[in-house]
Amino acid sequence: MSNQDKINKLIELRAQAKLGGGIKRIEAQHAKGKLTARERIEMLLDEGSFEEFDMFVTHRCTNFGLEKTKVMGDGVVTGHGTIDGRVVYIFSQDFTVFGGSLSETFAQKICKVMDMAMKVGAPVIGINDSGGARIQEGVTSLAGYAEIFERNILASGVVPQISAIFGPCAGGAVYSPALTDFIMMTEDNSYMFVTGPKVVKTVTGEDISVEDLGGGKVHASKSGVSHFLVENEEEGVLLIRKLLSYLPQNNLEEAPISECDDPIDRLEDSLNEIIPDNPNQPYDVKDVIHSLVDYGEFLEVHRNYAKNIVVGFAKFDGQPVGIVANQPNYLAGVLDIEASRKAARFVRFLDCFNIPIITLVDVPGFLPGSGQEYGGIITHGAKLMFAYGEATVPKITITLRKSYGGAHDVMSCKQLRGDLNYAWPSAEIAVMGAAGAVEVLEGRNLRKIEDANERAEFIAKHEEEYKEKFANPYQAASYGYIDDVIEPRNTRIRIIRGLQSLATKKLVNPPKKHSNIPL
Ligand code: HXC
Repeated sequence: MSNQDKINKLIELRAQAKLGGGIKRIEAQHAKGKLTARERIEMLLDEGSFEEFDMFVTHRCTNFGLEKTKVMGDGVVTGHGTIDGRVVYIFSQDFTVFGGSLSETFAQKICKVMDMAMKVGAPVIGINDSGGARIQEGVTSLAGYAEIFERNILASGVVPQISAIFGPCAGGAVYSPALTDFIMMTEDNSYMFVTGPKVVKTVTGEDISVEDLGGGKVHASKSGVSHFLVENEEEGVLLIRKLLSYLPQNNLEEAPISECDDPIDRLEDSLNEIIPDNPNQPYDVKDVIHSLVDYGEFLEVHRNYAKNIVVGFAKFDGQPVGIVANQPNYLAGVLDIEASRKAARFVRFLDCFNIPIITLVDVPGFLPGSGQEYGGIITHGAKLMFAYGEATVPKITITLRKSYGGAHDVMSCKQLRGDLNYAWPSAEIAVMGAAGAVEVLEGRNLRKIEDANERAEFIAKHEEEYKEKFANPYQAASYGYIDDVIEPRNTRIRIIRGLQSLATKKLVNPPKKHSNIPL
């Protein structure tokens, strides 16, 4: 064989490997409205930047006559490339080969890119489209999963890990995405569950469809397993690119600062009018966020889950930040189990990756009731407190309106090491609202008043007194718990100056193996 023949053979082998499970299966994949593993990578990475590893890897299984069916690449495409010029490592499961099922060698390919990503400090992106453990391989496939899980765990907090679910992801396989930082699902064709509908039916008798059990919509709104819901794969890859623009490459780096033409001293007069005079009237905190941040651009995380708290990424003068904001428009912005878990996880992510936290507070308290208590609101609320209190990144808190009780403490107060705590003149910082306070403080006197009108007058008078004293930011400001009371329209410049002043912040927690966050 001449050298040229050898080169021609290589070209031929490469072309063959690129076909994965073959033309027919690729067509079947397209017919389902899905792209192939390679098409997804091409769409996601900068054009022509993909460098593939292990194209010639095949499985080693001889069970069930499998030695006769070997496909180059073995059902997963792996390698590295760039997104906006920054290196990322990637694996993309190929459903056209054994239904994207995971073999020992398939797992080794994924582990190789994860190890490389850790060595160089680059994000890992996994595209999932798989029938789970390759049944013919048995326990070596399970071991392969565990090798991946362990790497997910060790990479957590070191490099960002993003999972896109563009097909089935079932059984124990769901735990690799679950160990990563962000999960994205498509509206159709994407599902995750520990046990599928058939097993559910056998074990519990429940009749449920794939979509209702573990579809993208369900996980984005009910379980909160998925952070992002996208209409299709094209939208999904654009979102991954956008998400990465807010993140550093690893925990030792800062997130990239971009050019910004949006004036830092832009005054937002609308913010002076956004808080209704009636404290029980809602408003949309997202309007506040959009007015404050660069170009009004906000990448919301968990948009459809626990809507009483809003979390997501934005920039101030080109500096990426994470925003956590109570949402008065939904359940009055109350903190409940889901909201606490959602925000705690986000705060911890930001702290892992050196991203400053901006907190906008308008919270009437924790949601009362047996449902919440039995569900463990104490433990879940403590998660959010723990996350804020442990975080060492710059933390700027703006109290827009209510900041009551335990929720006041939790939402990045001064004593949980808030660096800059500002309040709008509309802030109400107190142990509880006026109605509740009067009920408790004046209960004995109230019980003595029989006449309804007299009673109402008594309540109104005492509520007024209470509001006068506490329904404002000045008591907190007089203790230095609030650094300044600011005019709402100046908030953008105050945040930007705050971030500039905190850029060199250094704060280190006491040495320990790891903390014991209330799980
Ligand atoms: C081997 C598999 C496979 C698997 C699919 N295939 N899943 N081969 N092991 N796990 C093969 C099929 O035999 C078929 O091959 C091809 O992939 C396409 O599969 P279809 O069933 O034709 O596709 P579709 O109708 O789209 O259904 C997709 C599916 C279904 C819903 C994913 O294939 C399915 O239910 N697969 C099994 C899912 C499962 O229970 N996996 C184990 C989960 S437990 P041919 O040659 O016929 O086209 C698990 C444990 C992990 O993963 C533990 C980690 C701790």
